[in-house]
Amino acid sequence: MKKLLNKVVIITGAGSGMGEAISKLFSDEGAKIVAVDVNDSSLEKLTNEITQKGGVVMKIKANVANEDEVSSVIKLTMDTFGAIDILVNNAGVMDDFYPVDLVTNDLWHKVMGINLDGPFFACRLAVPIMLKQGGGVIINISSIGGLNGSRAGAAYTASKHALIGLTKNIGFMYAKSGIRCNAIAPGGVNTNIGKSMKPNAFGYERCTSGGAGMPRMGDSAEIANTALFLACNDSSFINGSVLVADGGWTAY
Ligand SMILES: NC(=O)c1ccc[n+]([C@@H]2O[C@H](COP(=O)([O-])OP(=O)(O)OC[C@H]3O[C@@H](n4cnc5c(N)ncnc54)[C@H](O)[C@@H]3O)[C@@H](O)[C@H]2O)c1
Repeated sequence: MKKLLNKVVIITGAGSGMGEAISKLFSDEGAKIVAVDVNDSSLEKLTNEITQKGGVVMKIKANVANEDEVSSVIKLTMDTFGAIDILVNNAGVMDDFYPVDLVTNDLWHKVMGINLDGPFFACRLAVPIMLKQGGGVIINISSIGGLNGSRAGAAYTASKHALIGLTKNIGFMYAKSGIRCNAIAPGGVNTNIGKSMKPNAFGYERCTSGGAGMPRMGDSAEIANTALFLACNDSSFINGSVLVADGGWTAY
């Protein structure tokens, strides 16, 4: 039995890395996918792959930091599928490891806009729909940088800590209304997130000083499996939680 049969799922940052893996796995499990990303060509590739396998997918080019564009995503989803069963706030960017004294307003607002405002906009619009439906699931992709001070720069660390706070608050607020909201805190995972990075030398040196303790890098498919667990009924009693998926790195 497919675990997400006919569930309508919005996944942000679906064009690459974890979002791509989550989209493919959730489609294999029977979900109708709304794939959101700023990169239209990667969305095109993803939707072709899903469609060729017989899956149902709608791609939407949108910037999650832009409230109007998030609003359009929600509206298009409702107009097309009439429900939002699962929302995966996955889109995120790194901050080049900048320590606080060197963080510009532009960098701060860019990182906060994508990593925190985006999930906030989407949750604010999805929750009333989920309440009307009688339930729903929200999964926020945070980071072990949302639980520790040494995995990224000041802006990324603050954004991912705040995302965990948002997760816990939503989880608790609507716990009696059938909405579950959880976060995943991945450790280092092989994706494209670091590809365009130009790290600040001081910040990078400070943050990678504990890297020797990392057992291994993870694969996006392993985070997708974690997301599937949180999305389906197997995790029915898990709410307001942060699931660390880091191969044991932060257990040291
Ligand atoms: N890779 C890691 O080691 C790691 C570790 C912990 C947490 N994370 C988090 O996992 C999530 C996914 O990252 P990834 O590693 O798969 O990265 P990735 O760069 O491979 O994929 C991120 C996707 O998000 C899209 N995106 C970026 N800005 C966007 C915006 N404003 N609106 C819509 N889409 C946007 C990108 O185009 C890209 O397709 C992020 O939230 C990231 O912070 C990653």
